[in-house]
Amino acid sequence: MSILIKNGRIITATDNYVADVFIEGETITAIGKNLNLTANEIIDATGKLVMPGGIDPHVHLDMPFMGTYSSDNYETGTRAALFGGTTTVIDFILQKQGNSLQAALQEWKSRSNNNAVGDYSFHMAVTDFNPDTKKEIQHFINEEGITSFKTFMAYKGALMIDDRQMIDLMLEVKKHGGLINVHATNGNMIDYLIDKHKAEAKFAPLYHYLSQPEVTEAEASSRFADMANYTGCPGYIVHLTCEGALNAVRNATKRNQKLFVETCIQYLILDASVYQQNFEGAKWVMSPPLREKKDQATLWAGINQGLVQVVATDHCPFMWEQKLMGKHDFSKIPNGHPAIENRMELLFSEGVNKGKISLNKYVEVASTNAAKIFGMFPKKGTIAVGSDADIVLFDTNEKHTISAATHHMNVDYSGYEGWQLTGKVKTVLLRGKVAIHNNECKVEKGYGKFIKRNKVDGKI
Ligand code: URP
Ligand code: ZN
Ligand code: ZN
Repeated sequence: MSILIKNGRIITATDNYVADVFIEGETITAIGKNLNLTANEIIDATGKLVMPGGIDPHVHLDMPFMGTYSSDNYETGTRAALFGGTTTVIDFILQKQGNSLQAALQEWKSRSNNNAVGDYSFHMAVTDFNPDTKKEIQHFINEEGITSFKTFMAYKGALMIDDRQMIDLMLEVKKHGGLINVHATNGNMIDYLIDKHKAEAKFAPLYHYLSQPEVTEAEASSRFADMANYTGCPGYIVHLTCEGALNAVRNATKRNQKLFVETCIQYLILDASVYQQNFEGAKWVMSPPLREKKDQATLWAGINQGLVQVVATDHCPFMWEQKLMGKHDFSKIPNGHPAIENRMELLFSEGVNKGKISLNKYVEVASTNAAKIFGMFPKKGTIAVGSDADIVLFDTNEKHTISAATHHMNVDYSGYEGWQLTGKVKTVLLRGKVAIHNNECKVEKGYGKFIKRNKVDGKI
């Protein structure tokens, strides 16, 4: 099967030019002006952007969390991602404290195998680092193609590891060619504030926000950066939200440290005013919480300064019924919000269209950098001969409105209901197959493939 995409404007992290793209099987095999090649199918991309498929390296599908499961499974979540132009996601496996990493991998495989529509990979969250776990690291990097290990500096008792475990883990991961991801907030400070607010009978979602002030994230980010510098292990801070935390990273980079930063689309475009709306604010209860307008400005600047390399989602949806678990206690509201389908279009509309980032920067932070940081480049993350034909055809002018009534995520509300966007994903190819066209999904569950990743060295 071959496809010829004609006359599109190809945008990569570095290029911007009009050309044709020829695809044979799953792979791009030629790029050039007016290619004179016979194909089974011709797609006219005149007037459209032709970009690499989005990569969202921070999603939680079918994840057991806070007494329930995130409501998108591998089928609904990766399909919704495709509708929004994201062709590959990286999900998080959570080790159960007391159990092995291998047991956790088997559990996640039981939910993901043969169920994904789009491509996916895994980070392994190490929640109980001990001599037995330590022996498993090498196998995950060398055999399983899982080269990034997530750590939590919060969620004590369930997910958090202490600094001693962190350093030991960093040294082991570095030795074998992996990277440490971190949820960098100070769990002890947060737990103190949660207890304090509850003792004062303050139970509304607003107090979720007030229990995680900026300092809790700035302190942990700085501590993580120091530990990563000390051990020499490449680090990646997930869902960074605020000025204080970004300043900690800025300081770390002065010593030429390999420390990557991800923010998420919601932290760029939403702010904490949503928590004033009584229980409605539960829609945006996530950790860390939304911040202030000044933090949005810092994050956009951080992207342009090269301090923030990735814009992800931390997609972790819950039905409204599930959010109601915390109706009388903010600390029981399942943390997370849905965005896997909206990220690429929101970032284009709010970022490129409003002049905050360039088109090349858009591709870089929505796709290319994640592929490089996590060991998938140049198979994923670019449009080049030899790369997987993961391609988005994008209409920069089409206007549309976000609504839970029309989205494809398995969640009954949208955090962006009624938002009017300019710029729409029109056609999506995944490994050489048309996956989305005319607002319809053309590939079945099971087409999505697990992507084994290469070793990483903290350089991009
Ligand atoms: O609120 C969030 N972020 N939920 C998902 C788990 C995590 O901390 O990433
Ligand atoms: Zn987190
Ligand atoms: Zn997360």
